[in-house]
Amino acid sequence: MHLPDYKEAKKRENTPYQTRDYQLKQNLRDKYQGKSYFLKTYGCQMNEHDSENIKAMLEELGFHEQEDYRKADLVMLNTCSIRENAHNKAFGMLGRLKNLKEKNPNLFVGICGCMAQEEGVIEKITSNYPWLNFVLGTHNLCDLPNVLDRAFTENKQEIEVYSKELDMIENAPVLRDKSYKAYVNIIYGCNKFCTYCIVPYTRGRERSRKKEDILKEVKELIQKGYQEVTLLGQNVNAYGKDLYDDYGLGELLEDIAKLKIPRIRFVTSHPWDFTDSMIKVIGKYENIMPSIHLPVQSGSNSILKKMGRRYTKESYLCLFDKLKKCRKHMAISTDIIVGFPGESEKDFQDTLDLVKYCKFDNAFTFIYSPRENTPAAKLKDDVSKEEKEQRLYQLNEIVNQYFLENNQKHIGKVEKVLVEGKSQKKEMYFGYTEENKLVNFHGKNVAAGEIVKVKILEAKTWSLDGELYES
Ligand code: SAH
Ligand code: SF4
Ligand code: F3S
Repeated sequence: MHLPDYKEAKKRENTPYQTRDYQLKQNLRDKYQGKSYFLKTYGCQMNEHDSENIKAMLEELGFHEQEDYRKADLVMLNTCSIRENAHNKAFGMLGRLKNLKEKNPNLFVGICGCMAQEEGVIEKITSNYPWLNFVLGTHNLCDLPNVLDRAFTENKQEIEVYSKELDMIENAPVLRDKSYKAYVNIIYGCNKFCTYCIVPYTRGRERSRKKEDILKEVKELIQKGYQEVTLLGQNVNAYGKDLYDDYGLGELLEDIAKLKIPRIRFVTSHPWDFTDSMIKVIGKYENIMPSIHLPVQSGSNSILKKMGRRYTKESYLCLFDKLKKCRKHMAISTDIIVGFPGESEKDFQDTLDLVKYCKFDNAFTFIYSPRENTPAAKLKDDVSKEEKEQRLYQLNEIVNQYFLENNQKHIGKVEKVLVEGKSQKKEMYFGYTEENKLVNFHGKNVAAGEIVKVKILEAKTWSLDGELYES
């Protein structure tokens, strides 16, 4: 049994690590033939991509997917810790699974993901959830077959959570959700330690994948017909810093752009690590999509300082302007937190002023949620619940108005859309423009994975409507 330890998790010394290939013990292949699994994913794109690895690992063991969790032999929750409601959702699901397990003692339940890395969660699990079969941390996800097999054969609770990074595993099996767009990890972990955020504790220090491994993966995806890659990391702009002196995200983007895949995206960018040379590359290659997620969190310099974000409102706006100018069209989206400890009405107004200047194309807005053991959790949470809700409401009203205004600018234009399929409600197709806007459109004989031209006819707050454009 290995348990998480925040003191260990906080350490950032550059101890060398090995890169090794994923290996499945031969006696485990197909050992669970005939058994079914249900996997529920919470959280960010990184977790979604981890789930694509989890599915493939389970299927190598012989499991097949079951869409109704009540009928599955194994239920796995890939969890998220970012805000309290993410915790609540996972614990709510565990409550339902406990009831199910009382009726069906053969049901197997495991959790992995960021919650597994939290000391407090593990304490709760060991004392209150003895029926949970296994817990697997983020650093040893690829150990899933062994941990699961031990839990099955020894029939006792297995908790395997490491506080520090282990070897970097390459070539883990993957069962991608889509056959035309793919996630590609480029950097794991985060060293920023924003004072409100739990990620540096749950995902460890920044570790970049070798450029050769990333380029090999993208080349393989191109050969398979993929149209789009999204490069993933908690802070992709720090790519390469731990490995190379003169090779970072800009160089990586350029090398990938030259492979001629039609669409390249990357998330998430921290403004502090965004360099002019990266902006130059983004300006130069048309297959780097003109859509950047650039979380600002707050428009108040005193709150940004308390958050440990390392930039000011002025430096953020300077970067914002440069990005807007580097391409003919550039959509910028953001994340904003309201109600951080000490946020005054004036601080909140500063955020609204920034929003009015930036007129974001999309924004994810959150009420601050104290996370155990983070520095901000020790600050007095002095903004009342009502005030936080009121600010979120007011902020959303304004950001939504800009989403609509931005969308209206597309009416009458012909946009390239990567088709995802048919929408559920109407007989319309749907897909995403280069600026990452959702489009529903009428057309004929269009297949998922094709890039087609669509004439935009109508704008809504969160989507566009159009028709296939046949020139
Ligand atoms: N690495 C990314 C963000 C990852 S988390 C970045 O730094 O930009 C996604 C978003 O969740 C953050 O941008 C932030 O807006 C929000 N978030 C993180 N911790 C939070 C907390 N404790 N309470 C409320 N929102 C939080
Ligand atoms: Fe969290 Fe900040 Fe790292 Fe983003 S950059 S994951 S908000 S610590
Ligand atoms: Fe959540 Fe972990 Fe992602 S906390 S947002 S799943 S890195």
